[in-house]
Amino acid sequence: MAPRLRIVFGLLAASSLPLFYLMSVSLEVWTPWNMDLLGRAWYAAIPSPPSSRDRLGPLRLNNSLFGQDPGASSVDPSTVAPDPSSPGPAPARGPRVTTSRPAPIEPTPRVPARGPRVTTSRPAPIEPTPRVPARGPRVTTSRPAPIEPTPRVLTFEEAYIGDTYSREDIPPQTTCPDSIARKWSSSGFNGSFLGTVPVLQWAKDVTLPQHQRLKQFRGAYGWSSMDYDSLKAALSVLNLTANHQMFDDWERRRNGSRCIRCAVVGNGGILKDSGKGPEIDSHDYVFRTNGAILDAFQKDVGTRTTHYTFSANTMRNSMGAYRSAGFRGPPVSKETRYVFLPTSYRDYLMVKAVATHTPVERGPEKSKTPPKYFGEDATAEKLKMLHPDFVRYLRNRFFTAQTLKKRYREIFRPSTGSVMLLAALHTCDQVSAYGFMTPDYSKYSDHYFDKAYHRVIFYANHEFRLELQLWQQLHKAGIMRLFMRPPTTASPRPATHGPQSNGTR
Ligand SMILES: *[C@@H]1O[C@H](CO)[C@@H](O)[C@H](O)[C@H]1NC(C)=O
Ligand SMILES: *[C@@H]1O[C@H](CO)[C@@H](O)[C@H](O)[C@H]1NC(C)=O
Ligand SMILES: *[C@@H]1O[C@H](CO)[C@@H](O)[C@H](O)[C@H]1NC(C)=O
Repeated sequence: MAPRLRIVFGLLAASSLPLFYLMSVSLEVWTPWNMDLLGRAWYAAIPSPPSSRDRLGPLRLNNSLFGQDPGASSVDPSTVAPDPSSPGPAPARGPRVTTSRPAPIEPTPRVPARGPRVTTSRPAPIEPTPRVPARGPRVTTSRPAPIEPTPRVLTFEEAYIGDTYSREDIPPQTTCPDSIARKWSSSGFNGSFLGTVPVLQWAKDVTLPQHQRLKQFRGAYGWSSMDYDSLKAALSVLNLTANHQMFDDWERRRNGSRCIRCAVVGNGGILKDSGKGPEIDSHDYVFRTNGAILDAFQKDVGTRTTHYTFSANTMRNSMGAYRSAGFRGPPVSKETRYVFLPTSYRDYLMVKAVATHTPVERGPEKSKTPPKYFGEDATAEKLKMLHPDFVRYLRNRFFTAQTLKKRYREIFRPSTGSVMLLAALHTCDQVSAYGFMTPDYSKYSDHYFDKAYHRVIFYANHEFRLELQLWQQLHKAGIMRLFMRPPTTASPRPATHGPQSNGTR
């Protein structure tokens, strides 16, 4: 985009902030809970206020409208110390200060495009050049300056759904006779399941035609937040076998075993006092997400983490929100791999910085020194990144209802925990899921690490009821084993409620 255009967009975006402010103020009256500005706005739009998990800002309208996941957990602002490192101008507030400053609206602000290639994600201006088969390195020939070419109007399928994916025909890593891959096709999921969607993206995936195709999808579903050169620079650090194999150390650890057995651990309260720790640790691989707190909970959740799944945004939010519960950052161990769910440019910049031991260039994680989230000696071998085609495929095939529901389409994305579980179901031979939503969820607190009972809150940007049903179906189809408690052993629901949803998920 020409610099001048960018400035215009910047000004437009900036001038719309006061509007949001007004909206938030007028909506405030209707909402009983202390939620973030836009979260409130969206919430007010929901018919029945239910409950759910994964919150962290019910939905902070992110620069990339999609990308928000609050993380698989909730936050109690009253217990959250203001995170000094947190991006927004959000002045740490007491419980119900409804600052109007769209505090957590993520970094959109950078608007007034500074460098030559600001990729703010403000979705709107989806680069006005769609159909040009840009081949050369982005020769901006003489486009008559301010007159935008009218792009062909994309169809809904082209612009939003995109139910076609790149293919990856790699042989399975194992010869497990009892693998999930075989079960998918004989189950009721046969129409949804695609064995050829790439789960991870890496250096080889960045080509001009692919960029052309994927840049039209926002948030976790595509590359709209990344121009070609930045994307190339970021993903070229993921150019190792370990970056495109989920289980890169399998040959070393298999010890004669033919099947890869995975435990996928959500943060649900059902795990509290479950005593499942040793069972979880006995799997070959252990997946965890967001505010995965292990200290003091090993008996119930285990000690190992081989795959930590997160986005830059949810990880940072979790570090702020669950600090008081003991979450200091992602688990760090020799066997831990870091699986990014990229929801905006922030994830790509972080991957590049970690792999090259350089500071993060810009955005909320901008730093003067190389980031240390994953330990001092984190290397490119430890990093993996989920493919936008995979995340879009999950949305289109497993969360179809949500995909088509117009109202929330723009903000919906499967929660980090559910993407993690489905990624495991597309790569492991056997999966046991712990700490995920079960029909009796209201008996349990939101998280296993909650100090007092917090009921699960449902927000608009994730669809936990749909996830709950999906886990039941997958369990019944024998595709995975879901940890549930028999009615008799469930710990009784405490009489007191925690503070009413303080909406931070
Ligand atoms: C699953 O789908 C594939 C392709 O559509 C089809 O060939 C196969 O017969 C189906 N299997 C079952 C059990 O329905
Ligand atoms: C990845 O590595 C291969 C072989 O080592 C090399 O030829 C290729 O240029 C690299 N790709 C990128 C994007 O760095
Ligand atoms: C490998 O398997 C054998 C036999 O099952 C077992 O005795 C041994 O402890 C295993 N080794 C490792 C490193 O797990």
